[in-house]
Amino acid sequence: KPVVLSGCQPSGQLTLGNYMGALKQWVSMQDDHECLYMLVDLHAITVRQDPKQLYDACLDGLALYLACGIDPQKSTLFVQSHVPEHAQLSWVLNCYAQMGELNRMTQFKDKSAKNENNINVGLYSYPVLQAADILIYQANKVPVGEDQKQHLELTRDIATRMNNLYGDVFTLPEPYIPEFGARIMSLQEPERKMSKSDNNPNNFIGLLEDPKKITKKIKRAVTDSDEHANIYFDPKEKAGVSNLLTLLSLSTGKSIDSLVPEYEDKMYGHLKGDVAEAVVSLITPIQEAYADLRNNRDYLNEVMRSGAEKASARAENTLKRVYEAVGFIPKP
Ligand code: TYM
Repeated sequence: KPVVLSGCQPSGQLTLGNYMGALKQWVSMQDDHECLYMLVDLHAITVRQDPKQLYDACLDGLALYLACGIDPQKSTLFVQSHVPEHAQLSWVLNCYAQMGELNRMTQFKDKSAKNENNINVGLYSYPVLQAADILIYQANKVPVGEDQKQHLELTRDIATRMNNLYGDVFTLPEPYIPEFGARIMSLQEPERKMSKSDNNPNNFIGLLEDPKKITKKIKRAVTDSDEHANIYFDPKEKAGVSNLLTLLSLSTGKSIDSLVPEYEDKMYGHLKGDVAEAVVSLITPIQEAYADLRNNRDYLNEVMRSGAEKASARAENTLKRVYEAVGFIPKP
């Protein structure tokens, strides 16, 4: 089976964007792929985190993965810091990644503009650690949202460089980006993507938020000043409305083409009401499953323990190959 690897940062509550762009695909890939899904706590500390919040967010994230339908019998679920090979490979890859390449990363540019007082070295080499996450498992496919495309390209470039130097050390991974839903937009600023670390909580929908609050946020979503309030799909001209249609389509399973005619004579308020209802019915069963899982720390521990064990077994092999390739003496 092809190997699949992906992860989310526990740097806040997972959002509807994370679900649509990533988790939904993760769940559907479990049967015909060998899947590894992690929480990337090492990545999270590239932005300053409150230790207690990080700790909780990681457990919340794990319970949410399970509640969304990631099955530990089928997939390997783990916490990145429990598998030290990620950090070890990352160091080696740092020595094969060029500053010029990292300077071009748009996520680094965005994040360093937002966190002017903490442009740390980890934030800069963040994409190299991500490359290590992927290459350490010889992953074939990486299901992610649109925003991770550039990091995937860098991963392939580093892997190709090392393969050219040392023979076939790494499998070249392919990004797996959904055709639809790969970029859920902010509710208040629909030209920007929805992000869990947004300062304005009205911009995102957290998967664990109270349904009443979710409804309120959707009803307050920015649309546009089209005086006829026409409802159609055009992400450029009608970013807000198109984002709402996307959420409705992904939450109900109906295509945009079949939805649009239903709103021919209707107002934006009507669309928002339907979106809120659809999102709440999507999220409610996830929240119910989550509540039980989150309270069962013994079970979560067991999932983390066995996940890390399975992940490590694979990761060790690759690290050994890489160390040998670059000329390190194996420990006698
Ligand atoms: P993170 O935590 O920002 O996001 C997790 C996943 O959710 C996707 N996503 C979105 N999809 C659609 N619309 C949105 N508004 C939206 N916001 C986020 C992201 O594309 C991502 O797939 N660098 C990664 C974490 C990472 C990783 C990896 C991913 C670390 N190592 C190895 C894959 C493979 C990140 O910051 O994700």
